[in-house]
Amino acid sequence: MNELVSKASVHAFYDEAIQQGRNTAENLQAATSERFNTLLGSVGVETPRTALDLGYGAGAYTIALARAGFHVTAVDQIPTDVLLRRIDGAGEWGRRIDPRECLAENYAIDEDFGVVVARDVLHYLARHDVEALLTNAVAHARGGNRHYLEVFTGITRRAADGQLRRIEGEADYSPDSFRQVIERIYDGWDFTLLWSEHAEQDGRTGRNCFEATRATVIAANNRAA
Ligand SMILES: C[S@@+](CC[C@H](N)C(=O)[O-])C[C@H]1O[C@@H](n2cnc3c(N)ncnc32)[C@H](O)[C@@H]1O
Repeated sequence: MNELVSKASVHAFYDEAIQQGRNTAENLQAATSERFNTLLGSVGVETPRTALDLGYGAGAYTIALARAGFHVTAVDQIPTDVLLRRIDGAGEWGRRIDPRECLAENYAIDEDFGVVVARDVLHYLARHDVEALLTNAVAHARGGNRHYLEVFTGITRRAADGQLRRIEGEADYSPDSFRQVIERIYDGWDFTLLWSEHAEQDGRTGRNCFEATRATVIAANNRAA
């Protein structure tokens, strides 16, 4: 039988890791990806200069967006103090960041964000919350919008003793079920779906503790505003 990991322990894990600046097996302190950098570099004047970063973590994507001139709403379940310290004294781009301590599923999108980023976070949410969030972001998009999502599908987690683990309430998408969701929600947008295999090792045993197929969604709303 699968061991069930509570949402509260996931929350506590990130709270501690981010407070301590730990990198963790998932490379929490990593810089932004090449794919995201390419997207950011290709954004034109038609894209509103507002952005939403869901599950911002240590803040790399939020900071890159703010440096590029976006007003960024940065949402994470962790307290905002670490990000606030990181941007303290940053000057103008730091003032463009608005950190919110909030569950992504409770964040009600009520504006037209030019860029939406959700990297390595949506797999923690329930499917209906992932789909409501993305549907709402698309419904508020008036033109020129860009969405960058990285979502784990087909996840296998193992404890140090090899026992299978699941996280309470997680989406548990297969690659195919996730592809269908994206095709339905991003109907009429130009989007690319890329797939890569991903594994993380337990630092003590050296064995894989997390295996998944990562979906990268790069979506553009090219309809006129
Ligand atoms: C793997 S980290 C990714 C951080 C960042 N997006 C990046 O790619 O560097 C996952 C982040 O999602 C946050 N998170 C997990 N579940 C969440 C939820 N339901 N609502 C908001 N944040 C959540 C965690 O606190 C953590 O900061």
